[in-house]
Amino acid sequence: MFKIAVLISGNGSNLQSIIDGIEEGKLDCSIEAVISDKSNAYGLERATKAGIQTYILDKKIYGVNLSQAIFEIVHRKVDLIVLAGFLPVLDGELLEKFKNKIINIHPSLIPAFCGNGMYGIKVHEEAIKYGVKVSGCTVHFVDDGTDTGPIILQKTAPVYFNDSAKTLQERVLEKEHVALTEAIKLLIDGKVRVEGRKVEII
Ligand code: GRF
Repeated sequence: MFKIAVLISGNGSNLQSIIDGIEEGKLDCSIEAVISDKSNAYGLERATKAGIQTYILDKKIYGVNLSQAIFEIVHRKVDLIVLAGFLPVLDGELLEKFKNKIINIHPSLIPAFCGNGMYGIKVHEEAIKYGVKVSGCTVHFVDDGTDTGPIILQKTAPVYFNDSAKTLQERVLEKEHVALTEAIKLLIDGKVRVEGRKVEII
């Protein structure tokens, strides 16, 4: 059975979409661990409710050793790590040993509105301020940059004249839930081939 770990920092609605995908039989995998860098992340409750083992690795306590602590938990235990609203940047052995085995979901069409400091509602505020007509989300592999790894798939969402950051965020979030499940399914089925920066869906 394909095994995954899901890393979260907050609400965990993307985590919920994976849990639902498994329960509905769309995703043939098991979640071996949910790891949060925040002890009050609501996603931890979602995980517990679904009977999934949770770990809290407080960034304030682990500091620069956070990635290593995550590595100790997931090493030889999972095939894929899913960053679902996880804020800290990963590094070291975790990135090396899990090359092209860590994916992230970002709430914009990368390379727009991404990179350092671009997370949460800020992404949507910037999209609205800029006046783009289309936004969306991106599922990509994680490398040593911020939101820079090879793109697996993107989904678009329209931006309307009267949108607030909040209404746009809600519209994009719905797309995220679909995109993340779809990307995980492609990876489980071995349908993702990486060639440099480009990803082929085979
Ligand atoms: C999502 O918008 C995701 O793209 C971003 O953080 C948010 C997390 O939402 N990385 P949730 O915790 O999954 O509800």
